[in-house]
Formats: sequence, C-alpha cells, structure tokens
Amino acid sequence: SGFITLDSGYKNTGATKSAITFLDGEEGILRYRGYPIEQLAEQSSFLEVAYLLIYGELPTQKELESFTNEIKVHTLVNEDMRKIFDGFPVNAHPMGILSALVCSLTAFYPESMGSVTAEQERLSIVRLMAKLPTIAAWAYKNHMGHPVNYPQNRLSYCANFMHMMFALPVEEYIVNPVIEDALNTLLILHADHEQNCSTSTVRLVGSSHASLYSSISAGINALWGPLHGGANQEVIEMLEEIKADGGDVKKYVEMAKNAKTTGFRLFGFGHRVYKNFDPRAKIIKKAADKVLSSLGINDPVLEIAKQLEEAALTDPYFVERKLYPNVDFYSGIIYRALGIPTNMFTVMFALGRLPGWIAQWKEMRETKEPIGRPRQVYVGHPKRDYLDINSRS
Ligand code: CMC
Repeated sequence: SGFITLDSGYKNTGATKSAITFLDGEEGILRYRGYPIEQLAEQSSFLEVAYLLIYGELPTQKELESFTNEIKVHTLVNEDMRKIFDGFPVNAHPMGILSALVCSLTAFYPESMGSVTAEQERLSIVRLMAKLPTIAAWAYKNHMGHPVNYPQNRLSYCANFMHMMFALPVEEYIVNPVIEDALNTLLILHADHEQNCSTSTVRLVGSSHASLYSSISAGINALWGPLHGGANQEVIEMLEEIKADGGDVKKYVEMAKNAKTTGFRLFGFGHRVYKNFDPRAKIIKKAADKVLSSLGINDPVLEIAKQLEEAALTDPYFVERKLYPNVDFYSGIIYRALGIPTNMFTVMFALGRLPGWIAQWKEMRETKEPIGRPRQVYVGHPKRDYLDINSRS
C-alpha cells in the first residue's frame, strides 16, 4: 500500500524508542541507563549491571542481595534436559547447544508462554540468568567429553561459571581473583548494545508474543554469525593464521583492502555505529594487557594483534572508511588467557549479552509495541500463468 522506503540493513531506520542504552558512534560514547560504560566496567559487578539494565536503576544492597540469591536458587538445570544434551555429537558447536537448550526451556516451563503474569515473567528472567551459565558450561563439557560440574552457589556468578567450566570432579577449584575480575569486566562490556542484530531479533520475535525463552534462543542464533558475535572466534583464528604464516601483518592488511575480490575482511575491525573508536575496545585492550601480565602469560597472538592494529590504523583504506578495532578484537585474547577455548568465545558473548536481551524484550512488551513486520520492495516477476510440467523448458 503506497510508498515504501527501502533501507537495507536498517542503516538509517530507527525501529523503536528505548530508554536502556545510549550510544553515540561519532563520539565513541556508550552508557547503560545513563551510566558511562567506563565507570560500570571499573566499579560494578555483572549482576549489578544486569539489574540496572533489566529494572532501570542500580540496585540497593538489599535489592542486589535478593536478586543474587534468587538467581542462586535456580542455577540447576532440569536433569531431563541432560537427555537432550547427551544427544549432541562431541563436535557440536556450543552455540548450537546453547540455543537449542534455551529454546527447550519453553517446553520445561510452559507457563512462560502466552499471556504471563508479572510474577511468571520475573521467574523466567531469573531462571534464564541462573541457567545460562550452567548450560554454557555443559556445552564446553560436551566438547571435552568430560562429566558436567554442578553449580556451586557459595561462589559469585563469575566464579561459579569458572568452577563449572574447569573444576575437576573431586578437587576443590580455587578461582583466581584476576580471572574472576576479568570475566566480570568482559560480561559488563557485552551486556547491552542497543538495537544490534541479535537484540533486534529478540525484540522482533518477542513482538509476536513468543515466550522470553524462545525470543532469547533466536537472539543466540543471530549472535552466532561471523559478522556479529561470531567475530570473536574469527579474530583469534585469523591471528593464529597470521602467526603460522610468518607474522606478516601487512600482507593481511593488503588482503583486507581488497575485501571485495578476496572476500577477506579483518575480523574485529569496523562497526556499523562507531566511526571513531569503540569505547569497549579501549577498555578491553587495557584489560588484556593487565590480565596477561598478572597471569604471567606471554601470548604471541597479542603481539600480532597489536601489530595488525597499528598496520591497519596507519593505512588510508582503514582511515578513510573509519574502521577501528571493535569489542571483539581483543576479547578473544583475554578468553584464551582464561583457558576458554576458541569455539566457546561466542557463548561468552551470549552470557554477557543476556541481561541486555532480557531488558529489551521486557521494554518492548511493556511499551506494548506492535508486532514487527517490515515491508519490502518487490522486484520479482510480474504476473505469469502456471505451466504444465511437460511444457517447461
Ligand atoms: N575489513 C575490511 N574492510 C571492511 C571491514 C573489515 N573488517 N569492515 C568494513 N569494511 C569495508 C567494506 O568493504 C566497505 O568498503 P567500501 O566502502 O569500499 O564498500 C566499508 O568498509 C563499509 O563497510 P560495510 O560492510 O558497509 O559496513 P557495515 O556497517 O555494513 O558493517 C561490520 C559493519 C561490523 C559488519 C563490518 O565492519 C565487518 O564485517 N567487520 C568484520 C566483522 C566484525 O568484526 N564484526 C563484529 C562487530 S562488533 C561486535 C558485534 O556486533 O558483534
């Protein structure tokens, strides 16, 4: 009906009003509910930030305690879900396991579907926050062929995750505070990023009044792609390839400059919105240096990353197109230092992004947004008549 404006990739089209995250791509500013990302990364905890995103204000001590305790009550995952989990092949990508098991929560908690009460919605939120780390650690254990570790609720959110990932069955696992702290920072930096691809997916799916679990599962799948959250895995694979190839970063910069013919992009470079720098990348680069030096790790890949950054940032191709390192460029280096394997990197991103997805889903439902239904410009055949199969050439 009438005139349709076409904006492929929504480069200039706002899809919603939102009071959650402020982002200024020209100035490199990112704020959650008004609070600068630099302050949150430095001073707060991931659960505090999750509360802030989801409920709109920083929690009081009492609110944070009750949010944390409630999450602890729900960290176990129904043992029947293990049967689904056990069916995955050992080389299943952890993101596939994550999205499938999150979607299956809809089957285990059918009351999360349809019109839900405020109390049921609150429970779904808490369950997701509580169970996603457990499911994520299971996905890793599947890959390793190891028995799963049950959650330890005496530990913090981050320490419990590291315990479920790395503790051996009969030994107590002591989480290094440097690691706990680094994980906390990474999760905070990933916690929300306004209307990115996965968040828009969560809102779009949720706009049909699909359950929170199915909406988040769809978001996980959107995040998986290499142009979005999957980029962090691609970055490390690229850096390792450069290293194996003799460390000639200039060669790769040249290849990326011909992205149109080579099909090769520098992963971890460029961003749809940030055109001067990605404030998260600044924080992560510093954190990577700090973590590696305090753990006494000398990762040659970090050196290659720095050389590659330098080579790209002094090349007119990258300068003209305003392509800077994004959040994914250095995050993988920290994940590696934490002992997290490459194919788990995007899962780590999902753990961090969860509160943002939840907050955006909740906002979308509370503001009673209509069902999302983009239009199109049709460019196919005009009307033509059906041909009998024998008459087709
Ligand atoms: N390497 C080489 N050239 C690039 C790159 C890159 N990484 N990124 C963009 N370009 C070029 C692109 O070829 C185009 O050139 P031209 O003007 O000659 O046509 C120009 O820069 C603009 O690129 P675009 O694809 O139109 O920009 P976009 O806003 O549609 O895409 C992006 C943004 C992040 C998908 C893209 O920069 C990219 O593919 N980067 C690599 C993947 C990556 O690191 N993704 C993580 C993003 S941050 C975290 C997240 O959201 O998950």
